[in-house]
Amino acid sequence: MSQAALNRDRTRSANPWRGDFPVFADASLVYLDSAASAQKPAVVLEAMREFAAHSYANIHRGVYRLSEQATAAYEGARGKVRAFLGAASAREIVFTRGATEAVNLVANSFARPRLGPGDEILITHMEHHANIVPWQMVCGQTGATLKVAPVTDTGEVDLDAFAALLGEQTRLAAFAHVSNALGTVNPVQEMTALAHAHGVPVLIDGAQAVPHLPVDVRGIGCDFYVFSGHKLYGPDGIGALYGKAEHLEAMPPWQGGGDMILSVSFDKTLYAEAPQKFEAGTPHITGAVGLGAAIDYLEGIGWDAITAHQQELQAYAAEVLGGIGGLKLVGTAARRAGLFSFVIDGIHPHDVGTFLAAENIAVRSGHHCAQPVMERFGVPATTRASLGLYNTRSDVDALAAALRRMKEFFGA
Ligand code: ALA
Repeated sequence: MSQAALNRDRTRSANPWRGDFPVFADASLVYLDSAASAQKPAVVLEAMREFAAHSYANIHRGVYRLSEQATAAYEGARGKVRAFLGAASAREIVFTRGATEAVNLVANSFARPRLGPGDEILITHMEHHANIVPWQMVCGQTGATLKVAPVTDTGEVDLDAFAALLGEQTRLAAFAHVSNALGTVNPVQEMTALAHAHGVPVLIDGAQAVPHLPVDVRGIGCDFYVFSGHKLYGPDGIGALYGKAEHLEAMPPWQGGGDMILSVSFDKTLYAEAPQKFEAGTPHITGAVGLGAAIDYLEGIGWDAITAHQQELQAYAAEVLGGIGGLKLVGTAARRAGLFSFVIDGIHPHDVGTFLAAENIAVRSGHHCAQPVMERFGVPATTRASLGLYNTRSDVDALAAALRRMKEFFGA
């Protein structure tokens, strides 16, 4: 580790939540990669350990105490996700491995049976690969066409173009709530209303939104909403799909197996109702408990405090990064959340990431699983610094100081 990291101020600027996260026992760590995966507070780790140690068994299958406790914990976590998203019923919440699996579930179970040649799926140019590739796959299987709404030079969806691409033949519109590569917060309520005006159902990728914004799926009016636990200070391997009851009830299962059936015979198998029919096999029970604990943790802090912290730090970071010569932000939308994607004249983003890593500063350098939007902005990659609850002004200062040293080092 570099001298700069070793010398780093161990006290840091005040942050009421940083101490909740055991990883910061390493006081020199500057973690600015929460958009990839957020760190976990001790309460989440402890909830999972306690559950696995004392309440663990398989769910929905046993009549003994442990199985009943585990079932209650798992279904309790579903209830927490319901409340977190503002869904009407826990039956509208399907646990998945993450946002990616949730998109694939909708692509295969909702979209594919409705698609044929001439039909269209509409996405935007700023989507993560998880909200591109599943749609390309079902289009390839059915002869449907993927349409892409353009983004402006500031990194906003061109709403007129988006509206113009909606038509008789559109079967679904799918777009991010917050872009993982640009930080843009999309006007999802307006986009949903535009799609619904054409009778087009909507899926929203909320993976980057849920850590930063309170989400109300009924207020937005969307048909589907997906997110991952690991970006929400919860465990990896767990996430959720919200789907309106009318859709989930009408959709066939995607994966077959145990726990998604009412009865099985070689002549005929009857499926369970939603959400069970979408949860084949033993799910990530401990992960669901951890996700529930993460939601409890965030709600204990409260959205007012979370958004105030984020807005303050985001404004500070914008000012500090804006003062670094040769640094160009990729994505300058008026409404942004949680992250800064940038390039620096004369230095490849991978070299930026490597230089920062040597100072114990964690950022992501690359295409951020969003190659089309990189191509849209004419860059192969960016460096992305993303903010979480635990970040402080000192983290931003450390990043800026390291970037200045790096520029000197490279003579840029
Ligand atoms: N989707 C995650 C990111 O944007 C991994 O980094």
